[in-house]
Amino acid sequence: MFSHRPALSSTLALLGGATLMAPLAAQADALEQQRQDLEGFQVIAHRGASGHAPEHTWPAYDQALAMGADYLELDVHMSADGRLVAIHDTTLDRTTEGQGPVKERSLDELKTLDAGSWFNEAHPEHADDAYAGAEILTLDEVIDRYGQDVRYYIETKSPKDYPELQDALVSKLEAEGLVQSGSVVIQSFSQTSLKEVHDLNPDIPLVQLLWYSPGEDGQTLEEWTGVTPSPADITDADFQAIADYADGVGPNYLYDGQPVIDADFIDQAHANGLLVHVYTINEKDQMRQLLDWGVDGLFTNFPDRLKDVREE
Ligand code: G3P
Ligand code: CA
Repeated sequence: MFSHRPALSSTLALLGGATLMAPLAAQADALEQQRQDLEGFQVIAHRGASGHAPEHTWPAYDQALAMGADYLELDVHMSADGRLVAIHDTTLDRTTEGQGPVKERSLDELKTLDAGSWFNEAHPEHADDAYAGAEILTLDEVIDRYGQDVRYYIETKSPKDYPELQDALVSKLEAEGLVQSGSVVIQSFSQTSLKEVHDLNPDIPLVQLLWYSPGEDGQTLEEWTGVTPSPADITDADFQAIADYADGVGPNYLYDGQPVIDADFIDQAHANGLLVHVYTINEKDQMRQLLDWGVDGLFTNFPDRLKDVREE
């Protein structure tokens, strides 16, 4: 499963002078190391340790890393003045005291908002006065803080709202050396977005997100954007079409409390060379089930719970 792309070795063969070989070889080693690591199990901290602290804030990210997460998951939108910001929703209403679309506010305006107090009200059992007043973070700030010491699992959100997002994101990651250091995976529900990223830089590992829910008959599962048919009807050709640009799939596990995928789905994805990273798993019995089925990684708001389960 998970065959390696030829792009780096081809580049090395073409550019293989003595002075160039050392740094390029080191970069190739780092990317190769990431790809090897992806063949093992990955703990993906969903919006940081967002079960313990307000999502996409320093406390959530810092706690995720302290809990041993392999990747920080970041959802990325753009401000009105074109800055990449870490926030899940298209609008500000749920996680700040602001209102309306993120894309209609400048970064200066976004920075005035409190992105932490909502969590203390919604989750009093995890509340902490230190969370109040937490700022919305830019991708630049996150990278400045953690650099190449951390791996980032970045989701391109609402790419139709921000046609320039892919280019801005890949340019930033390349400028910071984060692609060649094996520090980033990019994920999206948008096949168009992922294919654009793949065209911009084919070295970036990509994961196609999938969302299965019942169709109009209330029975047959449908994938939100039509990337695949129902899991029951997926063919090898369907998975191969994803494997043409991506390294893995990221399906939901449950819809309305009922599983939408099973062990056969995971086996078939593996047989077609695709990793399977399932979202968003916060209950230990569900973690155990999916680990038993052989998934390659889980998105979770509670990296500490997943660590406990893996150590059982
Ligand atoms: O990215 C995996 C998972 O986070 C997708 O769902 O809505 O939490 O971004 P969402
Ligand atoms: Ca996400």
